[in-house]
Amino acid sequence: EDLGVVAVGFSGGQCKPGVDAAPKALIEAGLLTQLRDELGYNLHGHDTVHNYTDLMPASDPDYRNMKQPRAVSAVTRRIAEQTYSHAKEGRLVLTLGGDHSIAIGTIGGTAKAIRERLGREMAVIWVDAHADINTPETSGSGNIHGMPVSFLTGLANEDKEEFFGWLKDENRINKRKLVYIGLRDVDPGEKRILRENGIRAFSMFDIDRYGIGKVMEMALGHIGADTPIHLSFDVDALDPMWAPSTGTPVRGGLTLREGDYICECVHETGSLVAVDLVEVNPSLAEPESMGAQETVRAGCSLVRCALGESLL
Ligand code: ARG
Ligand code: MN
Ligand code: MN
Ligand code: MN
Repeated sequence: EDLGVVAVGFSGGQCKPGVDAAPKALIEAGLLTQLRDELGYNLHGHDTVHNYTDLMPASDPDYRNMKQPRAVSAVTRRIAEQTYSHAKEGRLVLTLGGDHSIAIGTIGGTAKAIRERLGREMAVIWVDAHADINTPETSGSGNIHGMPVSFLTGLANEDKEEFFGWLKDENRINKRKLVYIGLRDVDPGEKRILRENGIRAFSMFDIDRYGIGKVMEMALGHIGADTPIHLSFDVDALDPMWAPSTGTPVRGGLTLREGDYICECVHETGSLVAVDLVEVNPSLAEPESMGAQETVRAGCSLVRCALGESLL
């Protein structure tokens, strides 16, 4: 099978440097060679880690409370072109981030390609401690990695090209085909948005109550059989015990096996069209703690599971 790889060395959706080094760390840990040699994928686009320096504006003052809005808008626009062209060719798309703002591009691009290629609306499974559905106005931090879902669902809107005005209906997703798993740190404004829009969300409470097996059954049932799926996995969905080296860790998260299981179930549907792995930040753990390597290893495991490693 053909796999389009987009390695995104970008950290502008939040304030901590280092998350842009994740693609290199994941690749050096052997992820892409494993995908090629052990899982048999034909890789495309894997030779470059993109840092999009040509797109960086000379000055980037806040706009509507958003930090670095021109940079994030321009970079995600380029990423959307990249995922679009892979998905348009019929390739499964793997994006290695980068912070979670990049999902504006990854999902924006695949949503458009899936509409054109299959005439279908794709579903999104968003695995995260956070809902990332703040609008510029509800966000307390102004960090765009907390906002991608609001732009992708059209809950946030902006006409100006340089502030995500390039996002069109063809790039957007249906909020009824969006499912969250792993939530445990959702801002008050986000809770209201989830409630008012009837968005399906499985929090850690649901995982404790029903178990991950039942939760995946319900999540996939909500999406419906045969619907193309884009999996956007924020490594901070995992408990910091497994993934400490990330910008916004929250205790009480998924075990590594629960994370892997989510990915395995999505793979098993046969409907996966794209995977993002984001928010691995190798520079945030103490070197002696091995936390960075652990986080990178966890990230590699999640991706391999999503791409079929557990099939016997
Ligand atoms: N809700 C917080 C915010 O909007 C945290 C978001 C964390 N997002 C992430 N992709 N790690 O700033
Ligand atoms: Mn190639
Ligand atoms: Mn998160
Ligand atoms: Mn996130």
